[in-house]
Amino acid sequence: MSHSVSYGRDGDVGIVTVNNPPVNALSSHVRQGLTEAFAQAAADDTIATVLICEGRTFIAGADISEFGKPSSGPNFLETLGAIENLPKPVVAAIHGTALGGGLETALCCHYRVAVPSARVGLPEVHLGLLPGAGGTQRLPRLMGAQAALDAITNGTHIGAKAAHAQGVIDELVEEGRLREGAIAFARNIAARGAPLKRVRDLNDKVSGVDPRIFDVARAAARKSKRGFQAPLNCIACVEAACTLPFDEGMKRERELFNELVTGSQSAAQRHIFFAERAAAKVDDMPADVKPLAIRTVGVIGAGTMGGGIAMNFANVGIPVVLLEMEKAALDRGLAVIRGNYERTAKRGGMSIEQVEQRMALITPTLDYAALATVDLVIEAVYENMEVKKTVFTKLDQVAKPDAILASNTSTLDVDEIAAVTKRPHKVIGTHFFSPANVMKLLEIVRGAKTSHETLATTLAVCKAINKIGVVVGVCDGFVGNRMVHRYISQANYMLEEGALPHEVDDPVYELGFAMGPLTMSDLAGLDVGWRIRQGKGLPEKLPPGERYCEIADSLCELGRYGQKTGAGYYRYDAATRERQRDPEIEKLIVEHAKTKGITRRAIAPTEVVERLMYSLINEGAWILEEGIAQRASDIDVIYVYGYGVPSYLGGPMFYADQVGLDKVYARVCEFAKADPASWHPAPLLKKLAESGGKFNA
Ligand code: CAA
Repeated sequence: MSHSVSYGRDGDVGIVTVNNPPVNALSSHVRQGLTEAFAQAAADDTIATVLICEGRTFIAGADISEFGKPSSGPNFLETLGAIENLPKPVVAAIHGTALGGGLETALCCHYRVAVPSARVGLPEVHLGLLPGAGGTQRLPRLMGAQAALDAITNGTHIGAKAAHAQGVIDELVEEGRLREGAIAFARNIAARGAPLKRVRDLNDKVSGVDPRIFDVARAAARKSKRGFQAPLNCIACVEAACTLPFDEGMKRERELFNELVTGSQSAAQRHIFFAERAAAKVDDMPADVKPLAIRTVGVIGAGTMGGGIAMNFANVGIPVVLLEMEKAALDRGLAVIRGNYERTAKRGGMSIEQVEQRMALITPTLDYAALATVDLVIEAVYENMEVKKTVFTKLDQVAKPDAILASNTSTLDVDEIAAVTKRPHKVIGTHFFSPANVMKLLEIVRGAKTSHETLATTLAVCKAINKIGVVVGVCDGFVGNRMVHRYISQANYMLEEGALPHEVDDPVYELGFAMGPLTMSDLAGLDVGWRIRQGKGLPEKLPPGERYCEIADSLCELGRYGQKTGAGYYRYDAATRERQRDPEIEKLIVEHAKTKGITRRAIAPTEVVERLMYSLINEGAWILEEGIAQRASDIDVIYVYGYGVPSYLGGPMFYADQVGLDKVYARVCEFAKADPASWHPAPLLKKLAESGGKFNA
């Protein structure tokens, strides 16, 4: 029998045990093992069989790394058929997470018991897939069409208690006594001579369903999951469960699953799944480094960023000391935090008691001395080197010697900040994205002297507050903003060369981006970049041979800072915030080009997409070459979680691999020929293009 599945007995009950760490995924050897174990169970003179898993979880799904590769061993339907068709009761004993193919396996058992801490769900939609082993046909038969539709199209994890209430779990057993509980349940079922409850034979919850629920679900998915194919296929499958006999529904599920698993969206989303997990790994981290315990945190600055950062800790029960310099600013910051929580409570996202619990975890202060005992301090003050240095000098004096000092800088040199302290090994950058309580991404900026312990602790903190951390090196703008600088510059160059704002934005929006570069600039606030450019003495101090576009500066001079002033590259409706074209700006752009002696030309949407995407990709290649990012997939994670690139594109570097690096490089060279001041082809891109390589090999 396969090494990952064993068969044994507990008296008159057969026990099939899966042991495939870390998450008991249904790899081909597990499917093989299960098929063999259930054949043994069938031949054995037991009265029932329990299916249980070793380790931290029940089967957490198909082995995602096997998708897209030639299959071997029995397929899912053969394996699950062997379970479902066993002529004596089979009981799934669930702990941890029964997800995807794991829940589908449990649904082929005749009964399911679980410990209260277990969770179940069909999260395949997040991988650009649908539950392809009968989940779309069986789950609605147990919990009803609407509940299953919601669970499958959103990929929700459902707690065991709720799953019990919905009929998915038959019995909850005491925590820590799963095996005994499942065996007792199985014996009881067999002793009572209870019928084998095959979910496929249940039909009452899928007949008589109002067909309009599917149109409503489709409209919602098109809006909230714009461009994603998998949610629509999931809906079609649940619809099939309600309109077709079981076997035909299964056939439909298979067709729609195959369409997804062979498509580009799922390949990209699977890439992001593994990329996200790889991002937490630091190549040179010694195995014996242990993260420090972070029990309390200090945040300096109660503005938008500081307040959002503080909320992250309060949300997971970590006390925060929130420091401001003036009472009015502190009160304002606290009021914003409270307002955010109360809005969530109003929408049903938390109770009023929880609002108060979280507020109670935030201790406001005007006194640096209050930071003396915290384990980690995150500074979120004004983005200016001198201001940051003053804060760190002070912090170094008041914070306890082993406290970690982090800067929420988005561009500044973390090494220069660390140099004003006596503990540069304890200094690190934590670049949160706005709004910091919502955005999943955290760029963790590793300085030249940051210790492994500090880095490991920051990664652990990042996981504790449910963020996705990516370790990056020190350079102007780190990974995300350094690349976006090239991207926004191209957007502005295209304005002066012949495009209007919407002609720059719409093609990447159509590609799937949450918004185009100019809409993004309007949202972020044009004054931010303007101040940074002024600080650098631009355009007067522009290095020779560099290109500069003054349009954004002209907008700021007109007081058009973007959405917050109701106007930027576009005009914004005061009530709806909807973007509108603005003839005044379109005229300004045309005149600007005339002044600079540029003959405007029509720029095709394909060129717009190429210039925007390839400016990101080329800069990404430089970043990889310089070791600022550890791996190409880290850049993809940054762009998916921080910059609104849909996971179905897999991030810019994955996108480049799909296009073909030879094609990307050839176009970059053409652009560089036409505009050598703004394009500098990256040697790594050239090397990979010439060798037929990929960024994500
Ligand atoms: N296949 C292969 N590897 C998997 C995996 C899977 N289904 N699920 C997790 N892993 C791997 C991770 O890549 C990670 O590997 P490394 O340690 O090498 O990085 C390791 O298992 C641990 O995973 P996490 O770091 O995510 O651990 P966690 O404890 O934070 O979370 C989990 C555990 C909730 C199970 C989470 O891993 C998860 O959500 N996994 C995916 C579940 C899923 O999507 N299942 C459906 C698969 S598709 C399917 O089943 C199709 C079908 O219908 C047949």
